[in-house]
Amino acid sequence: MKMLVLLGSPRKGGNSDTLARLVGKSIEEGGGTVDYVYLNGLSLRPCQGCGGCDKSGVCVVKDDMRPLYAAVDQADRILLVSPVYFYGLSAQCKIFGDRMQALWARKYLLKERFRQGEGRKGYLISTAATKGQKIFDCSILTTKYIYDAVDVEYGGELVVKGVDAKKAVLKHQEEVLRAVQFGRDIVEGRV
Ligand SMILES: Cc1cc2nc3c(=O)[nH]c(=O)nc-3n(C[C@H](O)[C@H](O)[C@H](O)COP(=O)(O)O)c2cc1C
Repeated sequence: MKMLVLLGSPRKGGNSDTLARLVGKSIEEGGGTVDYVYLNGLSLRPCQGCGGCDKSGVCVVKDDMRPLYAAVDQADRILLVSPVYFYGLSAQCKIFGDRMQALWARKYLLKERFRQGEGRKGYLISTAATKGQKIFDCSILTTKYIYDAVDVEYGGELVVKGVDAKKAVLKHQEEVLRAVQFGRDIVEGRV
């Protein structure tokens, strides 16, 4: 199992990053491989809405998304990792998601289904400082829509609220264990 982890927080070693690496470690221990991509380190232009992908399913913007499209297509599992920023995904994740418009065009305009029947799946990790009831709703909905465009099934989320300081999540042993288990559940095919 080849997993692509898209780290969407600019804060390296922060809460979402910490959880993602625990999940990744479980995947590796279970025999999978994990590639981490730090989105903030890439040069990514927002989608220009130019329709350049409509007839080809390929984005015309030449930037660091080029290798990322290939990585997305090659992955068996994708993990989008984002802090909650203003009740939604971080800008880094949102740009990545919007650029999946090219794959949306491949699926819905060109009617090309990609790696169907292979059981590819995508997941979300998110963390937030506050504890609002709807704090992850927007991020989950957006992420589901991104994975639909990518043509992978949404496999679920690992979300932790009430963590703000950089490594606050490590003070919650139950959340650490939940992350380890989430990774096992992924690699052993339970989610
Ligand atoms: C620009 C910005 C916007 C944020 N917006 C929210 C928000 O709307 N709700 C919330 O609960 N926390 C918000 N936070 C706090 C982060 O979601 C929280 O600290 C999270 O655990 C950070 O994850 P990270 O360490 O992976 O970056 C915001 C933080 C920043 C920097």
